[in-house]
Amino acid sequence: MEKGKPIIIGCDHAAYGLKEKIKIFLIHRGYQIEDAGTKAQTSVNYVDFGKKVADAVSKGQYSRGILLCGTGLGMSMVANRFAGVRAALCSDIFSAKMSRLHNDSNILVLGGRVIGDVLAFEIIQTWLDTVFEGGRHLERIQTIDN
Ligand code: RB5
Repeated sequence: MEKGKPIIIGCDHAAYGLKEKIKIFLIHRGYQIEDAGTKAQTSVNYVDFGKKVADAVSKGQYSRGILLCGTGLGMSMVANRFAGVRAALCSDIFSAKMSRLHNDSNILVLGGRVIGDVLAFEIIQTWLDTVFEGGRHLERIQTIDN
């Protein structure tokens, strides 16, 4: 992914610590970040932050987003209800790579209580570096929203 385009990131309290570390990781690598919250460890409803990020990606305001909650499950359920959003919950590098190659995922979802920091960074880097294959996969994803 081009570093000139900002990535929108959102989380709930369960993944606040990991979100802060991911911001530092990405900023050090030259990416621009828009933090949609949450911005503290106080308990919140993940749905509010999932909607914010998914809506922004759905409207084309951001081409890529990252969402985090405890398991990643709630965030992926929320995000995938938005038109044009293809949110991929990944806990391994292979899935992150395939979610880009074949599914052109535009939101990466991570479980802050599932994976460690270093694996999260490797998943993110793979997800950002992998280019969609297009072709037959483009024809397939085009049928998701209609
Ligand atoms: C919060 O306790 C937890 O339910 C949330 O982070 C997430 O895992 C929901 O899917």
